[in-house]
Amino acid sequence: MSARILSGKEFALQIKEEVRRDAGALLEKTGVVPGLTVVLVGEDAASQVYVNNKHKACLELGIRSDIVRLPETASKEELLTVIAGLNQDRAVHGILVQLPLPKALRTVEQEVLLAIDPAKDVDGFHPLNAGRLAVGDEHLVPCTPAGCVKMLEMAGLEIKGKHAVVIGRSNIVGKPMAQLLLARDATVTICHSRTKDLAAMARQADILVAAVGKAHFVTADMVKEGAVVIDVGINRLPNGKLAGDVDFEQVQHVAGAITPVPGGVGLLTIAMLLANTVKAAQLAVR
Ligand code: GUN
Repeated sequence: MSARILSGKEFALQIKEEVRRDAGALLEKTGVVPGLTVVLVGEDAASQVYVNNKHKACLELGIRSDIVRLPETASKEELLTVIAGLNQDRAVHGILVQLPLPKALRTVEQEVLLAIDPAKDVDGFHPLNAGRLAVGDEHLVPCTPAGCVKMLEMAGLEIKGKHAVVIGRSNIVGKPMAQLLLARDATVTICHSRTKDLAAMARQADILVAAVGKAHFVTADMVKEGAVVIDVGINRLPNGKLAGDVDFEQVQHVAGAITPVPGGVGLLTIAMLLANTVKAAQLAVR
């Protein structure tokens, strides 16, 4: 069997068209151009790439985009001062502090995320927005899991009544992914590094979401015939190539549908960030 390949490009294009239309309608009605500001601390190479991609995507769709760059040595106070200024700036509807922060600031990450005005929290990482999601209010939802669910829905793949297994329990992907699937009536299991017999758990999944951060972690023997496999991982191999958390070459012969890496859910993450920015702007001008 050969799986249906779920191309992120195709779905992201559709979402971006909706965002372009919504941004245009907002401008026409209120004169407001949605604005996103990304705060980038330090010189992390992968983060530079992500931030530049976000910037380009905004400009394509009529969203104002700014990048505030702070040096690796920036203090917590400097970062909080920048965030306070953006919270006050009426032209800024979305604020995103690129993660990971440099090592020296990593212990204060939660404090930094808490400082962002929840109404401008387009990452959906503020505890208020995480709490809203937990009680079933999908206000500003973290972009990667939101993109995964949107892709399942756009592809016409049923979630209701399915057994979804999410591998990974991060605040950014695993936990919100589980909440979104639960809200759509899946039966959800969350697995992590301390799960006993993870392979046996994974084999029960109708929908398997891999958000582990280890290249080729999910092998063909961990996948049920016909399962939908969503690969959230973006890992750099020693040869410089990108690889997902799923062994795509093998698993594509077992799965019913599968997302590739690159070209899978990563593209949807950016599209959902743009959608969140326009949503935040719409709510701000109401
Ligand atoms: N680093 C990698 N992905 C993300 C993301 O979605 N948001 C933020 N803030 N940082 C990231």
